Amino acid sequence: MVKNTGKIKKVAVFTSGGDAPGMNAAVRAVVRGAVFYGIEVCGIIRGYDGMIKGDIIEMDGYSVSNIIQRGGTILKSARSDEFRTKEGREKAYHNIKKNKIDGLVAIGGNGTYTGAMNFNKEFGVPIIGVPGTIDNDLYGSDYTIGYDTAVNTALSAIDKIRDTADAHDRIFFVEVMGRDSGFIAIRSAIGGGAELAMIPETKTSTQYVINKLKEVSNHSRSSHIIVVAEGDEEGSAQDIASRVKQSLPHLDIRVTQLGHIQRGGSPTAADRVLASRLGLGALEGLFEGRTNVAAGIINRKLVYTSFEDAITKKKPYNREMVRMIEILSGRSYKFRVSASEEE
Ligand code: F6P
Repeated sequence: MVKNTGKIKKVAVFTSGGDAPGMNAAVRAVVRGAVFYGIEVCGIIRGYDGMIKGDIIEMDGYSVSNIIQRGGTILKSARSDEFRTKEGREKAYHNIKKNKIDGLVAIGGNGTYTGAMNFNKEFGVPIIGVPGTIDNDLYGSDYTIGYDTAVNTALSAIDKIRDTADAHDRIFFVEVMGRDSGFIAIRSAIGGGAELAMIPETKTSTQYVINKLKEVSNHSRSSHIIVVAEGDEEGSAQDIASRVKQSLPHLDIRVTQLGHIQRGGSPTAADRVLASRLGLGALEGLFEGRTNVAAGIINRKLVYTSFEDAITKKKPYNREMVRMIEILSGRSYKFRVSASEEE
């Protein structure tokens, strides 16, 4: 139990940006934590949009019954353009004061943290972030809420694709989410035994893929899976596949874009536990007088990272994992074994 030095009597929790499986578990942890500490708690509907509109509901321990296993977010989510304006934030502040809210827990990604940082700078309302995004691209936490579930969803899709790819000796380009990062792509490529992952963090030219597939098709006919992160600099999986097909028209190529199925579904055990720890950690951080920081877990320990760092610093991807993908694909030909072509 921590001491409520910040004299927080009422907190509000909200989810913002792209939803992620496990957000509900984080909301539950904040609400049940507040009940445990004997303070008031409310939920803001649709993130910053709801703050501007005053869409705020009182919550108690029962409000979060039976949600730990549910994907999505009972508080709804939105990306608010109005909150990017000073006028929007003023309206939001008015509603925070009106509802006598002393502290905020913001569950979301980079955009959510940016909004929180600006809001705190302008109006001084204590606010702590909780990393909730399937992309895992937030500095300050080894993993973000929703990432593990999304990887497992992608993996089960890749397993199914492998069956049909193998039956027809086809080459599949599978596009996974990751606007600016390849975390989902790397992990699902390793877990799914893919031949290659194309991610925004490294440069892998389409020509490189063509050369490798040329080698493959000269040797034998078999199936291949190439995982493409949606933010890859070479374009979408469809773009890349079309260019490959132009150069190698004899190959049987198909594309699958996994899309938003990666955002839904019941959270894995890892995501539920992570979300529970971070939700309670954020609440207790407010009690300790912390603000303008994001809660995270690094090396199994609860840490707090300034919003500034969480927003501006880039979480490094694991080069060793990228190197592994091509080594472990076990083809007779030699794929490159460095993380990037330029290296
Ligand atoms: O940030 C999470 C994420 O799922 C990205 O991977 C993806 O690019 C984006 O959100 C999609 O956003 P929307 O649901 O608004 O289309």
